[in-house]
Amino acid sequence: MLTKQTVEDLKKYNLSTLYQLLRDTKDNRETLFILENLGHLPVGFDGDSLLHLLPNSSDQIRLWVVKTLGKLKNLKYLDVLFNVAQSDINSMVRREAVSSIGRMRTEDAIDSLIELLDDSDPKVVLQAIRGLLVFKRKSQVDIALRKLRRHPNEIIQSVISKEFSINGNHREAKQVPHPLSPDFMKNVVVLGDVRDVLKCVPDEAIHLTFTSPPYYNARDYSIYESYEVYLDFLTEVFREVHRVTKEGRFFILNTSPVIVPRVSRAHSSKRYPIPFDIHPRLTKMGWEFIDDIVWAKPETSVKNRNAGFLQHRKPLGYKPNPVTEYLMVYRKKTDKLLDWNIHQYAHETVQHSKVKDGYATSNLWQIDPTFDRVHSAVFPIELCNRVISYYSFLGDLVFDPFGGSGTLGRAAENLERHFFLTEKEERYFERIRQDLGRESLFRQPARFLSLEDFQKLASQSS
Ligand SMILES: C[S@@+](CC[C@H](N)C(=O)[O-])C[C@H]1O[C@@H](n2cnc3c(N)ncnc32)[C@H](O)[C@@H]1O
Repeated sequence: MLTKQTVEDLKKYNLSTLYQLLRDTKDNRETLFILENLGHLPVGFDGDSLLHLLPNSSDQIRLWVVKTLGKLKNLKYLDVLFNVAQSDINSMVRREAVSSIGRMRTEDAIDSLIELLDDSDPKVVLQAIRGLLVFKRKSQVDIALRKLRRHPNEIIQSVISKEFSINGNHREAKQVPHPLSPDFMKNVVVLGDVRDVLKCVPDEAIHLTFTSPPYYNARDYSIYESYEVYLDFLTEVFREVHRVTKEGRFFILNTSPVIVPRVSRAHSSKRYPIPFDIHPRLTKMGWEFIDDIVWAKPETSVKNRNAGFLQHRKPLGYKPNPVTEYLMVYRKKTDKLLDWNIHQYAHETVQHSKVKDGYATSNLWQIDPTFDRVHSAVFPIELCNRVISYYSFLGDLVFDPFGGSGTLGRAAENLERHFFLTEKEERYFERIRQDLGRESLFRQPARFLSLEDFQKLASQSS
């Protein structure tokens, strides 16, 4: 029986027997075992001993042959590998062949790699790009790669735009350092329409936004002409939020489908899937989708829609009680990795911002809703605590464009972050003042400003 040791010994002391074994064995399992255990190849290993296996019916065997030929980095096999890259029936084998060509790191492979940029498998194209990036400075390569910036595949587009700093990705230095935010916005609550307020907020001023927008026609404060107008309104606000968010930072949107009750018995009620309808608009404006977190409430705390069905039990009339809401997590699109964001902070800040034990490990967050005597739809503070501690650092500026009763501000205060809130209804603005207007030894005093006062402050500090 063939063992790893036998393959190792043959490789070291008796290569010709190894070649013969590869040639003569009819057992695919044995062939695969040898190939998988070849490991580091001895000097002078003859790749020709493997070529007869390239038409083998086993994908795994062909894959290992290609891998092994790749290890030889011998230009002699360029054409063979190119042929496999173009014509093998298995796309894993084709990708491995491109990777093997790339690993040769020879200018002689440039033409073949450029030809493979036209492949229909995006992963083949990405391997070819990887191989070509070694010769990025050569004009032939540069021209071929730049052409891919309009490639239909988004990952290819993003690799190319990062490599060639397309789309103005070179704007770092112009802003204040990443951990800092404008002083005039720290612990500020503005009474006004968020769209007016944001007009005087500078670009990239905010570290994190967490918000629950007004519902569509579900409560008294939210009357819109139509669903389209409502979505357009949110789009306008979130586009501005995108502008004022720092590079690579997060936006967490709490929404759920809403029901607009039926006009009369002759009509049916209508359900609007807000999270799903707003999502494509967000990604289009430059928010990258990161996660969906589900906030689950106890069934006893939500409105019962089940009563009718409970009686009649007729199919089609089933109506589950909606106990969940979404927290959709987005990141301002950037080529930078999260590590870049983290490295902008002092080591000490990162250490002190570390998330404590007992954090939520899954995307299902079971949290009881909170009821407020003034506001009819408030965040439970636990929801804000989690979002702030998982998605911001100490000293950051967190924003809620639809401040409501100011729960996000209270959580920010407790967690040693700064808050910036906007709210258009005076009674809710006053509700925020009740909690955040108190003096605190631990933070800069909160300021409660009219739109005009905020505009003045913003213009003084620009
Ligand atoms: C769902 S509530 C937010 C509640 C908040 N998360 C809390 O914990 O109290 C939405 C809030 O957005 C406010 N709002 C609606 N349109 C607004 C606008 N254009 N500008 C600022 N605030 C607005 C409403 O008055 C309402 O208080």
